[in-house]
Amino acid sequence: MSFYSWKQEYSVGNDLMDKQHQVLIEMINKMHDSMKIGKGSVEAGNIVTEMIDYSVMHFAAEEELMKKVQYSGLNAHLKEHNAFMTKAADFQKQIDKGSFTLSMDIINFLRDWLTDHILVNDKAYSKFVGK
Ligand SMILES: [Fe+2]
Ligand SMILES: [Fe+2]
Repeated sequence: MSFYSWKQEYSVGNDLMDKQHQVLIEMINKMHDSMKIGKGSVEAGNIVTEMIDYSVMHFAAEEELMKKVQYSGLNAHLKEHNAFMTKAADFQKQIDKGSFTLSMDIINFLRDWLTDHILVNDKAYSKFVGK
């Protein structure tokens, strides 16, 4: 059983966005696996970097979609994405310095942030964007 699984209730009604959310969830599972088998912090850092990079791409794609339909909640949504990127930049700085240690606190933070963000913020645009 996975640490973190995508559920139908996470669907935002857009196939590409759902797919990208599933990839992000898989990346968090990979972090969890790398903790369990005790891999070193370099590998852990690489997975976190991979997730941060994918988040940049995903946020841009999502923002593009919201702009396309002139979604009225765009600015509030951008703030949520930016707040996450501020936190992510902090992790990335530690990774680059070689001082990053992956912990369950970080993995739980990422899982909880993503779940809340999908259920609250992403689902809010779902009735405005198409499949
Ligand atoms: Fe979002
Ligand atoms: Fe999203």
